[in-house]
Amino acid sequence: MALPKTVVTNSDLEKTVDTSDSWIVSRTGIRERRVLETGLSCSDLAVEASAMALENAGFNPADLDLIIVSTVTPDYPTPSTACLVQAKLKANRAAAFDISAGCTGFIYGLAAAESFISSGLYRSALVIGAEVLSRVTDWQDRSTCVLFGDGAGAVLLEKKTSSDNRGIVDFILGSDGQGAEELCIPGGGSKNPASEESISKKLHSIKMNGNEIFKFAVRVVEDTMDELLERHTLKPDQLDHLFLHQANERIIKHIQKRVGLPQEKIPLNLSRYGNTSSASIPIALHEEVAAGRLNKNDLIALVGFGSGLTWGGALIRW
Ligand code: ACO
Repeated sequence: MALPKTVVTNSDLEKTVDTSDSWIVSRTGIRERRVLETGLSCSDLAVEASAMALENAGFNPADLDLIIVSTVTPDYPTPSTACLVQAKLKANRAAAFDISAGCTGFIYGLAAAESFISSGLYRSALVIGAEVLSRVTDWQDRSTCVLFGDGAGAVLLEKKTSSDNRGIVDFILGSDGQGAEELCIPGGGSKNPASEESISKKLHSIKMNGNEIFKFAVRVVEDTMDELLERHTLKPDQLDHLFLHQANERIIKHIQKRVGLPQEKIPLNLSRYGNTSSASIPIALHEEVAAGRLNKNDLIALVGFGSGLTWGGALIRW
């Protein structure tokens, strides 16, 4: 994983908008977030996380077949951030593209990479969730600026060579574009290209209907969990770890109660990083691996939701 060094605490935000540490903590669980330093961009975080993933796996970037970056904050509208990562890693034979599926993007990226590998086209793929949400945040809007943070996480997938049952077991992916406007950056695309008006109306920052997203998130996370478990005739307590998108501690605690899993099976790092969109699940995954809490053969589920609207789940035998 990669995180900017600059920490912005809730008390820092108290000085710039009408908010309070107690409001932010009680409504979201967030205490601080990281903000990327000027001069750096999404690809820098993506490369740092990727280099760590490749080094941990002892994998030579020159052997990489595919790079997928999930991000809503690419360096440029075009070319893709994945191509910038490819060049910086010197992954000279890799194909590269970006995925835009909001905070669910890491799970969409995993599913795409797994499909390329299981089809036989490729043998290895790097999947990265990398976000610099601080650059699309309206720092005067207290309803959104307290929520988001910057960061990146990366994983390396390789074609299976053993005959055990470890690996990716299943995916569920979903979308509902009827809810597109509920969480949107309206400016900067072909509908509202950059103009003096788009800037004065702050169309280049995140607009979110928090209440609607909250209800949507609870519903789709519950449904995705249920379907993933039902498909494999599993009970929640057969999961060793459940990685939920880190958007709001209240959503995570609600799901925890519903599935009846102990807190230690559901990593929670919102208090330190805020919502890092598609980076949140791979960051949590990295922290659990680094802490030695993920064991060979553990059954883990990843469940996310985000703009689009989109949602997704993955079941993995570690
Ligand atoms: N500080 C103080 N007061 C605030 C703040 C703030 N930062 N933000 C809003 N308020 C006020 C509102 O103005 C409102 O005041 P009013 O009652 O006088 O009108 C009051 O607090 C309650 O506002 P709500 O929006 O109803 O607060 P809620 O409890 O719903 O919490 C929140 C808002 C945290 C955004 C919540 O709705 C939420 O987490 N939604 C889901 C967000 C989410 O998951 N987003 C990410 C999904 S996708 C992705 O990750 C990109």
